[in-house]
Amino acid sequence: MKRTSRFVWLNGKLLPFEDATLHFLTPALHYGIGVFEGIRCYATEGGSAIFRHRDHIVRLFDSARVLGFRQLPFTVEEIIAAVRQVVAANGFPECYIRPLIYLAEGGWNLSIDAGVPHVGVAVWEWTKYLGEEALARGVRAQVSSFTRQHPNAAMSKAKIAGNYANSVLAKTESVRLGFDEAILLDAQGYVAECTGENLFLVRRGALHTPPAATVLEGITRDTILALAREFGIEVVEAPISRDQLYIADEVFVCGTAAEVIALREIDFRTIGSGRTGPLTRRFQQAYADLTHGRHALSREWLDFLPPVIAHPTSTHARPLPESHQAGQM
Ligand SMILES: Cc1ncc(COP(=O)(O)O)c(C=O)c1O
Repeated sequence: MKRTSRFVWLNGKLLPFEDATLHFLTPALHYGIGVFEGIRCYATEGGSAIFRHRDHIVRLFDSARVLGFRQLPFTVEEIIAAVRQVVAANGFPECYIRPLIYLAEGGWNLSIDAGVPHVGVAVWEWTKYLGEEALARGVRAQVSSFTRQHPNAAMSKAKIAGNYANSVLAKTESVRLGFDEAILLDAQGYVAECTGENLFLVRRGALHTPPAATVLEGITRDTILALAREFGIEVVEAPISRDQLYIADEVFVCGTAAEVIALREIDFRTIGSGRTGPLTRRFQQAYADLTHGRHALSREWLDFLPPVIAHPTSTHARPLPESHQAGQM
């Protein structure tokens, strides 16, 4: 039986779950003007630990910069503390963590400067995003009829809430057609990514993945690239065509929610053996070791929850840190 969240952190305060509500006239709700993160906390032998915590919060601030926020009410350090606080308060040994910076208090003229950023962090128990069987069997995917947004239409380096309408359109279509996941092509017709995961293929022992330009720079993608270096596997970051997927030995997707999952079938074509392939399995195992404190890199990438957590109290607006200020790219 799953336990539900008891507390949500909202603008510097830990609130009971039921009290963490927003007004209907919150502009972020109407225009998707917010940026978010998806992070996981794992139960390890050394206690609960948040995987690549700082990397996720830095990407949250990068997303805010891409979207155009000039001032944020909290620093990276304060949001890191807030995440620790809300995870500890809810008492989940393992959970999914969702920080969100969203436009509130005005902003009806479609300018981000006309509103004020608010920040929240929620957590919930969530284990297998693509289902219990996906790890061993892999899942079925289709190339979507929807195209990944061009970077000049929607910034692909930012997890902007509104961008996810594109993912929702694609995922809904695929699931209604009986598939588990959608693969989106970019505006040039090359493979981009899935609705919430980056994509890799294995062919003749080498690992191939689309270049970062048109996709989200996934933190799991970066983790897979680090593991590939450790395994001594050749990595090719170059455009991938749809038919290259069909003739791959293995195809897998990766993301914080999905972790590492094979695509066993794409557009009704069986991929490789039709099950999770040997290299995908190796990445799955290494990723599980890494996130559960059993890998050499775990120490660097796991943020263990301290027994006592400081409550961030600051609520006043302050400029983005030097490296996170708008217009200083
Ligand atoms: C569109 C998209 N691509 C890729 C990813 C994978 O990113 P990460 O590994 O940082 O979770 C996500 C999930 O955040 C996503 O939404």
